Amino acid sequence: MCQYSSRDGHPSDWHLVHLGSRAVGGAGLVMMEASAVSPEGRITPFDMGIWSDDHADSLQRITQFIRQYGSIPGIQLAHAGRKASTQRPWEGGRPLGSEQGGWRPIAPSAIAYSSDFPVPQALSIIGMRSLLESFTWAAERALRAGFQVLELHMAHGYLLHEFLSPIANRREDDYGGSFENRCRFPLEVVRSVRAAWPDELPIFVRISATDWSDDGWDLEESIKLARELKKLGVDLIDCSSGGIAPHIEIPQEPGFQVPFAARIREEAHIATGAVGMITEATQAEELLKEGSADAVLLGRALLRNPYWAKQAATELAVDVAWPKPYERIRTHKSPNSISLADLRALFFGEEPFTVIDVRSISEFCDGHIEGALRIPYEELLSFVSSLPKDSNFITVSNGGTGRSRSAADLLRSHGWFNARRLEGGYYQWSAAGLPSIESGLLAS
Ligand SMILES: Cc1cc2nc3c(=O)[nH]c(=O)nc-3n(C[C@H](O)[C@H](O)[C@H](O)COP(=O)(O)O)c2cc1C
Repeated sequence: MCQYSSRDGHPSDWHLVHLGSRAVGGAGLVMMEASAVSPEGRITPFDMGIWSDDHADSLQRITQFIRQYGSIPGIQLAHAGRKASTQRPWEGGRPLGSEQGGWRPIAPSAIAYSSDFPVPQALSIIGMRSLLESFTWAAERALRAGFQVLELHMAHGYLLHEFLSPIANRREDDYGGSFENRCRFPLEVVRSVRAAWPDELPIFVRISATDWSDDGWDLEESIKLARELKKLGVDLIDCSSGGIAPHIEIPQEPGFQVPFAARIREEAHIATGAVGMITEATQAEELLKEGSADAVLLGRALLRNPYWAKQAATELAVDVAWPKPYERIRTHKSPNSISLADLRALFFGEEPFTVIDVRSISEFCDGHIEGALRIPYEELLSFVSSLPKDSNFITVSNGGTGRSRSAADLLRSHGWFNARRLEGGYYQWSAAGLPSIESGLLAS
């Protein structure tokens, strides 16, 4: 996601930390923000770029870090077209005058994005050839920089989308008018980039599946385009929407773009990515399970929380690795588990017992014991209130906090005298090479 934190298109320490923390946080794919294939293709002077070999060199540090932590580095190649040459969003996002370092944008047609934006220079055929080369060289550099997924930005009202949309493309040559003509240049770019990018590495194309306007690009055209993209060897359509003009309202609600991913997947028989207001693990999981998309791409939720993926794994009870320095905050399911028989011998013999895991939900990183009840410490007393006073309990926690002891003490002080605690905790058992608890414990 655009950070507007580059100098001359180069990544900064900010990018290493920003992208690196998402890799550490468990994202499967970390996509470098829209990176301009030529200097005039930047939205702001502070955008990322990949128009020179030096850019490829400075990106290597980031791709290496992402790969080291088990994630896949991807990069989005972009040209901002008529939306180029503006201030950063936090400076107002207005078009830059030449005295402020601005430049004249290029676009398919000489039609401004809005009345306060400059009228762009309509691209000549020679200009288009040179732009196609810029995309192709950028792909070659991306490979050298160590990226493993390439995404072409054909959405959000930027240059390639401007070719597709009749709102921005009024050309009267072979590159405007009919659907085929409007798609011609974007498809030429894809063909050339695909030839430059190894067959075994995927290419994504991000599209705006609709302009949300009667006179604009729509879902039916997106489906047709997706079929063409598939023929050219594109692997996934990343289904976003909107952005072609400022006045169009977009009816946003959770998952509002998922139906686009579902339709394109079904009708163009190509993998799709769903994006847009997907914030919950269960929401993401559900849409994958129901077959609406093949991947979920997160924007703001992942900006808010770099550990979104790790937390989602916890919520969905999936065992994922953590980097070594962070292992203390997770637990392992050790194969050398304490068996049910060991626990019986340790505690209650043949009598039934209940294991209560008193970690709060935010601490449930891993190591859940099947059969153990997850009752956060604060809710313990209200939970046991209806249970007989001669019930047998074993309380467990993370370890190191003394909470399982406190929980057992609390129960005993309220008359459940058969409350015991399991020494240590999830973390210590594994750190000592000792056992976490085998699944299958009984709740009485
Ligand atoms: C700060 C910010 C930067 C973004 N940068 C990009 C970008 O570089 N490329 C892109 O295709 N979309 C970009 N987007 C759009 C997001 O990728 C995403 O499509 C959008 O925020 C909706 O998804 P979300 O609800 O998960 O955030 C950006 C959005 C934000 C808020």
